[in-house]
Amino acid sequence: MHLPSASAGSSEPSYNYDVVRKFTIMTLVWGVLGMAMGVVLAAQLVWPALNFDLPWFSFGRIRPIHTNLVIFAFGGGALFATSLYVVQRTSRVRLVSDKLANFVFWGWQTIIVAIILSYANGLTTSKEYAEMIWPIATLITVVWLAYGYLFFGTIARRKVKHIYVGNWFYGAFIIVTGLVHVVNHVDVPVSLFKSYPIYAGAADAMIQWWYGHSVVGFILSVGFLGLMYYYVPKQAGRPIYSYRLSIVHFWAVIALYIWAGPHHLHYTALPDWAQTLGMVMSIILLAPSWGGMINGMMTLSGAWHKLRTDPVLRFLVVALAFYGMSTFEGPMMAIKTVNALSHYTDWTIGHVHAGALGWVAMISIGALYHMVPRLWGRDGMYSIQLINLHFWMASMGTVLYIVAMWVNGITQGLMWRAVNVDGTLTYAFVEALEASHPGYIVRMIGGGIFAAGMVLMAFNCAMTIRGAGESARGGELIGAPS
Ligand code: HEM
Ligand code: HEM
Repeated sequence: MHLPSASAGSSEPSYNYDVVRKFTIMTLVWGVLGMAMGVVLAAQLVWPALNFDLPWFSFGRIRPIHTNLVIFAFGGGALFATSLYVVQRTSRVRLVSDKLANFVFWGWQTIIVAIILSYANGLTTSKEYAEMIWPIATLITVVWLAYGYLFFGTIARRKVKHIYVGNWFYGAFIIVTGLVHVVNHVDVPVSLFKSYPIYAGAADAMIQWWYGHSVVGFILSVGFLGLMYYYVPKQAGRPIYSYRLSIVHFWAVIALYIWAGPHHLHYTALPDWAQTLGMVMSIILLAPSWGGMINGMMTLSGAWHKLRTDPVLRFLVVALAFYGMSTFEGPMMAIKTVNALSHYTDWTIGHVHAGALGWVAMISIGALYHMVPRLWGRDGMYSIQLINLHFWMASMGTVLYIVAMWVNGITQGLMWRAVNVDGTLTYAFVEALEASHPGYIVRMIGGGIFAAGMVLMAFNCAMTIRGAGESARGGELIGAPS
């Protein structure tokens, strides 16, 4: 099979596409598995008996497997693949080391497998998104350092003076994720599988949510904004709307995100001033978030008609719309009085998946559809109709999921706080649970449709990679030339 080590243009340097291809394939594999796991979780909340009394299949064990697979294996995979693609193309130089690139790929896959096996066996630190026990956390640090060297080493050897703004976002994602991972995992091992954190009480909670929010902020937002700044202009065939705005966007987001963590700990033992600080920073965060969204959207000025024929561009633009929506919703939920209603309810789960499905997954899907034919030297995707179908499945799936969770969340919040005139609770907890059941069914259906769309995408990509339908279609790559 002909595999380009550089893209078709003869004037281009020989890029390392091998590692990008490998990460692309694994992003698809983990995406399908991680989302299928999400559907199983959703089904268990509809039919609790579905855990078959198997400890490793219980909700508590497979929930962190779902979150880690979709964030670190699927989302992380998309960021590894795209950052290593973008840094080479915009620096016009090959990655600094092929061996190190291979180490990062295999190291990351080993980490994901170790995560699945350890969580299934009940071995976790119990800190959300930081459940990995210390040997795995240590391996993550080593692989992350190698990734940092690969990325920044390549930038250091760049053949163009300018560092494209997408790389600034990717760079911040790499630095801050590494930093918060290390600080949150400083602990004292007492055996191979067990360690104790050096922090205690409210300080431990604060460090954990400083980390937790940075996962949201620097992986699920800043990393994917780096991706957005390359793939949206490329696919639209237009320069970014305002380069100046993108720089303001970068510094504002970087300066604000790191302070917002306390909004996860409203009404807890955390000092009140810290909660208020988290709330205020979160509200201010709305401005740069929307600045970035508008910058992405307006890139389509003069190219809106392309949305009629290009489903890949549709994925990218709808992702931006969901980014705008979830970064409006987030600051609202950070207001203490709103959080008093939303916290502990399915509203949070709705917010998470508006960001996760609507923004993170959709923008990744768009970027992968853009890259796959280019990486394997094909003249286009195997089937444009299937991309179209996938687009509608992903959009419908996301809407069903989040609307069901909004209805459930507000219902739960209102039922829990309803009191009778004599001060007793109007509803028992189980009544709120019963009221949530229809929403759980709708979420399961929506999630099922979204996950089925991912299977369709995996099929479409596999056929493209095999070169099926190539000569019959004789088509062109949708969107701008590479
Ligand atoms: C300006 C932007 C944003 C702000 C201010 C914000 C704010 C919030 C708030 C207040 C919560 C609820 C905390 C609680 O009650 O426990 C939350 C939860 C969450 N948000 Fe956002 N959000 C933003 C954007 C996003 C985006 C784009 C994503 C992407 C997926 C995201 C993912 C999450 C996740 C995963 C949680 C759940 C954390 C947990 O409790 O496990 N957020 N966010
Ligand atoms: C087919 C798609 C998906 C389905 C059906 C699904 C389903 C679920 C379910 C049922 C939960 C547990 C909710 C609860 O405890 O009440 C959950 C949690 C979560 N999922 Fe998904 N999910 C999907 C895709 C994704 C994706 C793509 C991401 C991230 C990129 C994601 C990130 C998360 C996170 C961060 C949580 C924890 C939220 C929290 O603690 O507040 N999910 N998901």
